[in-house]
Amino acid sequence: MSETAQLKIGDKTYDLPVIEGTEGEKAIDISKLRDQSGYVTLDIGYKNTGATKSAITFLDGEVGILKYRGYPIEQLAEKSTFIEVAYLLIYGKLPTAEQLQAFEFEISHHTLVHEDMKKFFDGFPSGSHPMGQLSSLIGALAAFNPASLKQGLSAGEINIEIIKLIAKMSTIVSWIYKKSLGHPVIYPRNKYDYVTNFMHMTFGQRTEDVEIDPVVVSAMNKLLILHADHEQNCSTSTVRIVGSSDANLYASISAGISALWGPLHGGANQAVVEMLQKIKEDGGDVDKWVAKAKDKNDPFRLMGFGHRVYKNFDPRAKIIKKACDDILEKLGINDETLEIAKKLEEVALSDPYFVERKLYPNVDFYSGIIYTALGFPTEMFTVLFALGRLPGWIAQWKEMKANKEPIGRPRQIYVGETDKNYTDIKDRK
Ligand code: SDX
Repeated sequence: MSETAQLKIGDKTYDLPVIEGTEGEKAIDISKLRDQSGYVTLDIGYKNTGATKSAITFLDGEVGILKYRGYPIEQLAEKSTFIEVAYLLIYGKLPTAEQLQAFEFEISHHTLVHEDMKKFFDGFPSGSHPMGQLSSLIGALAAFNPASLKQGLSAGEINIEIIKLIAKMSTIVSWIYKKSLGHPVIYPRNKYDYVTNFMHMTFGQRTEDVEIDPVVVSAMNKLLILHADHEQNCSTSTVRIVGSSDANLYASISAGISALWGPLHGGANQAVVEMLQKIKEDGGDVDKWVAKAKDKNDPFRLMGFGHRVYKNFDPRAKIIKKACDDILEKLGINDETLEIAKKLEEVALSDPYFVERKLYPNVDFYSGIIYTALGFPTEMFTVLFALGRLPGWIAQWKEMKANKEPIGRPRQIYVGETDKNYTDIKDRK
């Protein structure tokens, strides 16, 4: 006997079905509420509202659990590669050796980008933010892949666009970096695996093939895996709602990139390192900055702290923090901002303000320090987040279409003016 919830409004009682997910989460299905009662629900920021049923990622913010297709993030970060995790997220299972080889072959043979894409860079003013460039360039891929605009694409036709997007985004991200330096772009090499190829295109030189440190490749795989998906966060919800209008894959992902740009979301990794550098320049007085973060009259927030869902440690932050120590030691880097970050964490986690509000370090708190150690400039951090999140966005977009979900169209409660009449401009005050 399935459970129902009862909603009493005035002298009427409405029975609402309760659904339970495979991890024991429960929801009250209100899809018929307005038809039955004339009422809608209001939940600004969707803090308590489920937008879909998904089989891709599960997280439990109370205890700090994160799983992709049922596999704990700790196992995947330790044992898998980013491309294998991308396959898992998009196709729903770990690939066999042959499937993985075919997937990597397909991707490596689509990494070239149409030469005319370079013309876009001539239009960007120098110093324009990499996230703005990335969103524009990914949206522009639809122009170079007109087949993606066809309605009613078959699964095979959708899959080709997915392969192209994963392949070309790594090339485009590296080109954005090279163009920011005024350096010539480096072309992909089919002999390299996905992450090595990305590092080759990003840090390689036109005149010679530079040796890509396997330690760096391993750290990059881990970082990209940790960012690969995260349920219905702001940017993923954006991808799903744009895709629900039957907009093409490139347009949907471009919209997700724009949502991720915000400093409250993916832009936090850039904001964290800028914050740590500011604290360092200010003499490293961590207590002063923690006090500012607590002061309601001060707009300063501790970037990289707090989370909409995690009310415990973000499991990704734990893994990244350890990887931080490992990579800095292996590369022989003594990064003062890491010491400030650790001190900031220690002070904040013993302060009642943060403890009461369950504000813990999130995925962005340490990731920027590793990106810096790997040689990336601060402005590229959120672009790297987007590169990691791409398979998750794609998986969620694909699931939404496979489930034939309706166009997203939330309701509202109107609180504006009523019964106004038009007046001539000469009579207005
Ligand atoms: C990501 O959703 C996802 O999954 C996102 C993400 C993913 O993988 O996709 O995990 C990636 O976006 C991580 C979050 C990165 N953002 C930051 O680090 C920015 C700093 N953090 C915050 O701005 C904030 O914590 C949010 C935006 C992350 C969450 O905001 P909520 O859930 O809407 O919480 P809130 O703003 O209502 O804050 C609750 C209280 C408030 O104080 P009171 O009004 O109760 O007195 O906590 C305070 C806030 O002022 N607070 C902070 C704080 N975060 C919340 N105070 C100081 N510093 C902070 N960082």
